Amino acid sequence: MTKRFPDSFLWGTATAAHQVEGGNTASDFWLMESVPESLFAEPSGDACDHYHRYPQDLALLKGLGFAAYRFSVEWARIEPEEGFFSRAALDHYRRMIAEARAIEIVPIVSFHHFTAPVWFTRDGGWTEPKSVDRFAHYCERAGRALGDLVAYACTINEANIPIMISASRMANEQRPWSPPKNFTEIARRCGGDANRWAPYLVCDGYAATPQLIAAHRKGCEALKSAGLTCPVGITLALLDMQAEEGGEALRDAAQQVIEGQFLESVRGDDFVGVQTYTRIRFGPKGHLPPPMDAERTQMGYEFYPEALEATIRKAARMSGCPVLVTENGIGAEDDSRRIAFTRRALEGVLAAIGDGVDVRGYIHWSLLDNFEWLEGYRPKFGLVAVDRATQARRPKPSAYWLGDIAKNNALE
Ligand code: BGC
Repeated sequence: MTKRFPDSFLWGTATAAHQVEGGNTASDFWLMESVPESLFAEPSGDACDHYHRYPQDLALLKGLGFAAYRFSVEWARIEPEEGFFSRAALDHYRRMIAEARAIEIVPIVSFHHFTAPVWFTRDGGWTEPKSVDRFAHYCERAGRALGDLVAYACTINEANIPIMISASRMANEQRPWSPPKNFTEIARRCGGDANRWAPYLVCDGYAATPQLIAAHRKGCEALKSAGLTCPVGITLALLDMQAEEGGEALRDAAQQVIEGQFLESVRGDDFVGVQTYTRIRFGPKGHLPPPMDAERTQMGYEFYPEALEATIRKAARMSGCPVLVTENGIGAEDDSRRIAFTRRALEGVLAAIGDGVDVRGYIHWSLLDNFEWLEGYRPKFGLVAVDRATQARRPKPSAYWLGDIAKNNALE
């Protein structure tokens, strides 16, 4: 049986600057990757050299049948020192977005995807109240240079991930935030203080959250005042949070802190970006591990594609916004598991749409096998494999499979 998606449904794939571009040397993560006893399995290095190879990569995704590409512009390249805006970097991204437009790919642009300039993170990152104005200023400048070409703008990618990580540390280890040992060496190298160094994925998420919520608001205003007329929204990391008997109260409390306060704060936005990878279950005493016989992905997550339908419904209900699935995918060496996962996830998207939920599109994470943050290059999220020595791209069966669904706008 063939099930069709709505006519204007947007099909795409996603990446993020630091994970694919290579050589992001003015960023906080680059510095963290290069110190002894790094928290990262390996450095990002040249990544997928997407900074230079974007024309071929755009042509590749177009050829596969996708109509949209979500990627991020890198703050550390655009504003490598506070107040210095690189015309060359902005021109680069302008050429890239223009190239997408030229081949009729809809550009979905994120202005922050985890990484930041060293100067920002050295001065407290998002835990510092000044971060709100700093981000808005950057959005205003980047928006003025690029905004007329952007089709969808995402201010901050997964603005709730710092608090999700902090809350899970509290739940699993009963341990609040403290800077890892190697922050002393990082601070020494950049002339800062270990207690102020606050990178996105490794900071006190409770302290960062008020600024992240405010920065999204002010970032939206800055982008709109810079002339953007396209939809502007945030993206959030959402889990299907399920309660076993007796776990309801803990689940509800965690959900409000990790997701609810964000979803409620974006009411009235043009859209909300939903990014989902798995579920989490709560019992009366807290988190429950995945069932014994559950399949696990390369990230150790439970293989649970049905989570997407649940988070789409939750995001729509709690935010009142139209939903764009801005990320969904699986770390898997065996590509047939990617197809199985995505098929079930898409069935969930169709079920939500069938019940009247306004879902605008599905953007798969990721176009390319890329730098999976602290895990390095081991987890394979790509529809397209990348040879790390030659940078050659090789589409996997899942790329042709999902590209055909995109072309047909239907699931067989
Ligand atoms: C992030 C991506 C990441 C993906 C897979 C999301 O949390 O936005 O950068 O690679 O999940 O783990």
